[in-house]
Amino acid sequence: MSERRTFYITTPIYYVNDLPHIGHTYTTVVADALARFHRLRGDDVYFLTGTDEHGQKIQRSAADRGITPLALADEVVENYRKLWPALSISNDDLIRTTEERHKQGVAALFEQIRRHNPDAIYRGSYEGWYCTGCESFYTESQLLNGGCPDTGHPGRPVERVLESSWFFRLSAYQDALLQLYNDRPDFVMPESRLNEVRAFVKSGLRDLSISRSREKVSWGIPFPGDPDQTVYVWFDALTNYISALGFGLAGEAPRYEWFWEQHERRTVLHLVGKDILRFHAVYWPAFLMAAGLPLPSTIFGHGWWLKDDAKMSKSVGNVVRPLPLIEQYGADALRWFLLREIPLGQDGSFSDEALIERINADLANNIGNLFSRVTALIGKLPDGKVPDVPAFADETLEPIAAAAHATYVTSFARHEPAAALRAVVDWADALNKYLVRTEPWRRAGRENDCDRVLRTVAGHLAHVALRLYPAMPSAASRLLAALGFAGDPGTLVAPGEDLFARTAWSVTGRTVRTGDAVFPRLDRKAILGDAAPRPKAANVGAGLASEASVTRPKTAKETTVSEEIPSAPAPAPAQPPSEDLIEYDDFAKVKFRVAKVLVCEKHPNADKLLRLEIDLGGERRQIVAGIAKAYTPEQLVGKAIIVVANLKPAKLRGLESQGMLLAATGADGVPHVLTPDGEVEPGAKVS
Ligand code: MSP
Repeated sequence: MSERRTFYITTPIYYVNDLPHIGHTYTTVVADALARFHRLRGDDVYFLTGTDEHGQKIQRSAADRGITPLALADEVVENYRKLWPALSISNDDLIRTTEERHKQGVAALFEQIRRHNPDAIYRGSYEGWYCTGCESFYTESQLLNGGCPDTGHPGRPVERVLESSWFFRLSAYQDALLQLYNDRPDFVMPESRLNEVRAFVKSGLRDLSISRSREKVSWGIPFPGDPDQTVYVWFDALTNYISALGFGLAGEAPRYEWFWEQHERRTVLHLVGKDILRFHAVYWPAFLMAAGLPLPSTIFGHGWWLKDDAKMSKSVGNVVRPLPLIEQYGADALRWFLLREIPLGQDGSFSDEALIERINADLANNIGNLFSRVTALIGKLPDGKVPDVPAFADETLEPIAAAAHATYVTSFARHEPAAALRAVVDWADALNKYLVRTEPWRRAGRENDCDRVLRTVAGHLAHVALRLYPAMPSAASRLLAALGFAGDPGTLVAPGEDLFARTAWSVTGRTVRTGDAVFPRLDRKAILGDAAPRPKAANVGAGLASEASVTRPKTAKETTVSEEIPSAPAPAPAQPPSEDLIEYDDFAKVKFRVAKVLVCEKHPNADKLLRLEIDLGGERRQIVAGIAKAYTPEQLVGKAIIVVANLKPAKLRGLESQGMLLAATGADGVPHVLTPDGEVEPGAKVS
């Protein structure tokens, strides 16, 4: 046991003034992939996430809603509790800073600092600026045009603070911190972030106010020994990393000792967004040094997901929520995209288009295709089992597989999932090429060659599937099951065993399962409601779009977006080919109605879509239409429109559409919503 490596990985604890969005999801998904990789590698893993529930930000959000801060926290934490399992997050713990164990941990850290370094905390008075957005203090000269200088929300209004408070002697740790960054360059990763942190510390550290007056900020942990003050929320929050392990609890804290304290073979990794690197790479080690406690191994500052070129955040109003995406694409696909699309330290732009392309390229076309081909070929063998014959050692394939394996392990060990997953894709790519070269489907009977090729590829496939597990636990389990390995791969590993080091996988004799498309291709048009290639000219003649211009929907999803109504090509043929003509009865099945737009707003999760509430003659309905690029919501409210009233409802990016509005495509390629000429009551028939 004592030889076993430990891996303690944490996410930031999330503020409870906001519901989770893709940014929060990202950090947790990356942490989960790293945790799963280390578990398969035989490490003893502890994976912590949690919620940050104190401070002025939460106090104000709760007051705005007219509820207590704890009621707000109780409500929001439930969203996290539901989201994490839906995303296959395997956290061992979720700490809330309002829990008793955490409060005891904070008190114990103060106690420890006072004991170890009585000089480190002193009473003074603070005069300067405070930003509730990032819960940070700023001096006059640090402000950006009089507002907050934080790059996440530059210019956000700050408040003047003049208070008596407790201070932490941060300035005394400047040299020790610079020494730390020199001695342990991995303390902050990636390297570019280390340089930023170093420059910040070199520019001079001022002592840090670590309390707020209870009068101003009552929602916090009482300052130990001074009930008129509350603990500064960042001191409170950072302590979660040890309070969750039991630090400060009466009696023994074996988890704290095992994962944090002493032994040599431990890794402690704090995964954080670059926005909060300073708190983790400067304040946190200084607090720990003052207390004489061991420091974490690495603070990894990852990049941001942007939407419309800005950091996704509630205040900007450009957030993408994860649940509709999970519903649309599945947790595995979303995880794969987040992990594979951008290197961990860099920023990325979130869009459905990019996600669909990534899934189709990596999963449907490459890995999925490979699995389907191979399992289908093995399934056709008389016994449907992986042949019990020796594998080939192909001279092209083997070096590629060995290199992919090495890259995979070193990249994950360096906290670089994107590079690790790319290596798996390369491996699958090489296997696809090997199949094309060896053509097992043509070799049957040739001295068992076909059997040997299939045996060879099946062996590699088990390796590929296992390596997908940290990113896509469910899909990887399904793939392994298709190869005859039952159960969650996480349970295959014995304590201390490195599953990746197992070279031989006993694939022979296993019965394969065939038939399921493991990663079906995503139909971009059906999902996003994009129009078919646009015609060059407007085509709506007198009155309503002709029958020929209404494309019969292929799927329920396609039907609900107005852009799904492409116009007939211009110049239109005098008469469509006879097979395109429909009977009157077919036309009569479609119920066109006049409706009035009562409410219109942007779709919360898709920038091409609008959400409308319409009056259909006494019946109120919601429809979703892909016309956001052509209309602002205000332009549509009060307007009479034409809708297809008897389409099956379908969900579009998480919102149900109960019908479809009609629009004609202009020569400019822009949709023009159809409207009746003159006053017509909502609900009126259109024929
Ligand atoms: N409560 C503090 C953290 C305290 S940790 C001791 C906090 N919370 S937060 O909810 O605002 O954000 C937490 C983290 O969410 C960020 O650091 C980052 O990890 C992640 N993200 C939030 N928005 C993000 C993006 N747009 N993109 C990627 N991750 C971002 O800060």
